[in-house]
Amino acid sequence: MNEHYDNENVAAERILIAVDGPAASGKGTIARALASHFKLPHMDTGMLYRAVALNLWRWGGDPSSEFEALRGCDVAAVDPADAELRSEAVSSIASRISAYPSVRAALLDRQRQFAGQPGGAVLDGRDIGTVVAPEADAKLFVTAAAEVRAQRRVRELLERGLPAHYEDVLTDIRARDERDTNRQISPLAQAHDADLLDTSGLDIDQAIAEAIRLVERRLAARLSTQQT
Ligand code: CDP
Repeated sequence: MNEHYDNENVAAERILIAVDGPAASGKGTIARALASHFKLPHMDTGMLYRAVALNLWRWGGDPSSEFEALRGCDVAAVDPADAELRSEAVSSIASRISAYPSVRAALLDRQRQFAGQPGGAVLDGRDIGTVVAPEADAKLFVTAAAEVRAQRRVRELLERGLPAHYEDVLTDIRARDERDTNRQISPLAQAHDADLLDTSGLDIDQAIAEAIRLVERRLAARLSTQQT
């Protein structure tokens, strides 16, 4: 099998890449880097759930009510640059409301449309490779130890000028892992045909290089299947 994937030869082809993983695993940074490398549009699907959570939080809606969460699904008016989207309060509500089937259904079309663009796309989230885009050409499941993820998230929050305490963030990450993995609908799971990328011992440049290598290997394999 030719392991080398030539960007130029297949530039006109549709490339769909799914990146999934738990909180603060590095999947967002990796997805953005893949989008830039392969010149594809990128969607951070977690932002949709965060936008619903922010709506609900601002209205004083109750996250334990599926009905109220569904009312927050009109996310058109949410400013993607709103720093509050990344706050721990909103993260925690996002993780809770994302367990509701009606909320997931309300956000699914938008994600599938993005994935269906003619040239392809990169999407990152929890269920891209399993539910949103099971047909993706390359799927990565990005993970890292919970303690490493908590350290990264604290750094990220502080850099954004938001308050962050390591123990609280670690507790929250573990709670979110638990909820994301055990919910009934679209749980966080590695697709059977996804490549696992553990970033615990990698810095961001190494993680990106490894992600590109894994995706190129999948694309080269697809190319050789098409040619035979
Ligand atoms: O950046 P981080 O990984 O902490 O979170 P995110 O990707 O922005 O997602 C926020 C929350 O939305 C997560 O806790 C998930 O519960 C939920 N989510 C989901 O259920 N499905 C997705 N495709 C993306 C996010």
